[in-house]
Amino acid sequence: MSQELKAINPNMVPKKKLRSGDEIPVVGLGTFGSDRYTHEEVAEAVKEAIRFGYRHIDCAAVYMNEKHIGKAIKEAIAEGYCTREELFITSKVWNNRHCETIEACQESLDDLQLDYLDLYLVHWPFSNYHAPGCDGEARNPDSKPFCVEAFMDTWRQMEALVESGKVRNIGTSNMTIAKFNAILPLMNILPAVNEMELHPCFQQPELFDYCVSNNIQPVGFCPIGSPRRPDRDKAEGDAVDIEHPVIQKIARRIGVHPAIICIKWAVQRGQIPIPFSVRSYQYLSNLESSFKNPITSEEMDELKTVDCNSRLIKGQVFLWEGTNGWEDLWDLDGNITTL
Ligand SMILES: NC(=O)c1ccc[n+]([C@@H]2O[C@H](COP(=O)([O-])OP(=O)(O)OC[C@H]3O[C@@H](n4cnc5c(N)ncnc54)[C@H](OP(=O)(O)O)[C@@H]3O)[C@@H](O)[C@H]2O)c1
Repeated sequence: MSQELKAINPNMVPKKKLRSGDEIPVVGLGTFGSDRYTHEEVAEAVKEAIRFGYRHIDCAAVYMNEKHIGKAIKEAIAEGYCTREELFITSKVWNNRHCETIEACQESLDDLQLDYLDLYLVHWPFSNYHAPGCDGEARNPDSKPFCVEAFMDTWRQMEALVESGKVRNIGTSNMTIAKFNAILPLMNILPAVNEMELHPCFQQPELFDYCVSNNIQPVGFCPIGSPRRPDRDKAEGDAVDIEHPVIQKIARRIGVHPAIICIKWAVQRGQIPIPFSVRSYQYLSNLESSFKNPITSEEMDELKTVDCNSRLIKGQVFLWEGTNGWEDLWDLDGNITTL
């Protein structure tokens, strides 16, 4: 770590209150290395980020680095950077474990060396499995469309995890309004958050507003437009947020990298971005952007015009036989897409 980097007082980072009353810092550190960074590099970033003020870490079993991150968190606590209670740790059940969510959660707890998770998410709303790192053209013949009954079987296990004290809050990810409409009335414990793709070129205003009006806190993944995402997730025509002229113009005014404008926009709009970086100067400026040099309301208005509905994580590897394309995963006509 270079000398000019200064630790950030975690009390400076605003927090949001979840429906349980728990508080979550408005910027978290992503931990998916996009196959470009080793598990050790990601874990080292987690430890250093905690040392320098991060308190919110977004993990998932499928990133295959929870053991490394667990060691990093343990060391950070042992070295006195923070207490366990000051941290907000998220993990997610991967698609091949929906039928054994309780066991999958226990494995994440063991790997992360924790007694409880602050937040546990259903990573995708269907159990369609694909091997980590598989080609974008790969398809699993066992994949099926979303099924309310199957999802609710998983959700009952999520609720049991809250009741047993293993998890403090539960939530969803990669959902649609149509799917929410089908499952919210059946739930005993409602989702605290929905983790969804959110960046200036993909603002999802309807789903965002739906979540807010149902007291489901939006957490935004790929907040910088995931410029380093795996090549299999890149498609012709994908927008590049950090190259957008409006974002670059505001970045020039404040004197920061365009990535910082994406983070500021996210926080000021009301979602919780979870940017990934292993570079200390980047992840510290991402955290600092939650409370320093806000963008103006005129700039926030201008940033609305940047939205071009450019979904980056299309999810095509989860498609089932007989679909028309990745759009079927996202219920674009307002109805749950079936066979
Ligand atoms: N729930 C889900 O289904 C889901 C899906 C995708 C992601 N996620 C979560 O969301 C997290 C974030 O998404 P992401 O990693 O795909 O994309 P992202 O955070 O939008 O982009 C990360 C990349 O942006 C660059 N960057 C970060 N901070 C920067 C700064 N201050 N200045 C310049 N460049 C900066 C880094 O590039 P360099 O590496 O070149 O430095 C980094 O690799 C993931 O790590 C994961 O935890 C969840």
